[in-house]
Amino acid sequence: RPHHFLDLNQLSKSDLRAIIDDGIALKKARTGLPKGTTDKQAPLAGLTLAAIFEFPSTRTRVSFDMAMRQLGGHTIVLNSNDMQLGRGETIADTARVLSRYVDAIMIRTDEHAKLLELAENATVPVINGLTNNSHPCQLMADVMTFEEHRGPIKDKVVAWCGDGNNMVTSWIHAAGQFGFEFRVACPEELSPDPAALAWAKEAGANVHVTQSAAEAAADANCIVADTWVSMGDDAANRHNLLSPYQVDDALMARAASDAIFMHCLPAHRGEEATAEVMDGPQSVIFDEAENRLHAQKAVLRWCLGA
Ligand code: CP
Ligand code: NVA
Repeated sequence: RPHHFLDLNQLSKSDLRAIIDDGIALKKARTGLPKGTTDKQAPLAGLTLAAIFEFPSTRTRVSFDMAMRQLGGHTIVLNSNDMQLGRGETIADTARVLSRYVDAIMIRTDEHAKLLELAENATVPVINGLTNNSHPCQLMADVMTFEEHRGPIKDKVVAWCGDGNNMVTSWIHAAGQFGFEFRVACPEELSPDPAALAWAKEAGANVHVTQSAAEAAADANCIVADTWVSMGDDAANRHNLLSPYQVDDALMARAASDAIFMHCLPAHRGEEATAEVMDGPQSVIFDEAENRLHAQKAVLRWCLGA
């Protein structure tokens, strides 16, 4: 079976640690190099990634393409509406066909089951570039970013305020795999995926769910927010449900004095977090965006064994 990167709970702890460390090393090795140049070693020379998008993207699209370029390879970006996939060709046949042309496939899709079907039928590695259920590539960048700013994430406390969405599933997996405490503050109606919580229980992960943002934030080392309306969501009633979870200066003040603020972006200032927090001194949101590039280079190398 190819080295698929589907969810953080599917990889070993040691592989995840090695990928983060490789991402940090790859970032250091590029100091001073122009963005468009190839890394000194070009481990993916001659290799091609197909990147399929069923949803919009800025970071995932550009960071995967630049990652492949810097590693010496190429990317074919495919919008599903421009593919036969958009007019009924099956995911399984798409996987079989693309596997004859390219060396790896990344997909962003509205249904997690489609990711799994793609992986089941591909003979090359498949990477989860976000589904309705999870966003593991973002978590690799986020763990890397936390550690760059505050050292090892093990035994630290991360508090999530808002919708119990796809990012929360991947944070739950990360908490179990990297050994930190993860507190989710969310309205009951928007609770995290029960399967992710069940996995956390079985894996002995330190994960807690509360309806109080103040309780989750107390003495935390990191506060995380995300959009109130994810791609594919119906926006109705979400603003009402989620406004008590807005991250503002008062909530940040409840966290540890050196707490950082994280957000995977895109940001909605004045909704999930105030502009003061989003653009304030504790915010590391653009470091997270940059680290998508470095962390994914390490993910690609792991997938392709290069
Ligand atoms: N954070 C993230 O995945 O951004 P995009 O939707 O722009 O790819
Ligand atoms: N939860 C958000 C993340 C965007 C990167 C969404 O799914 O739209």
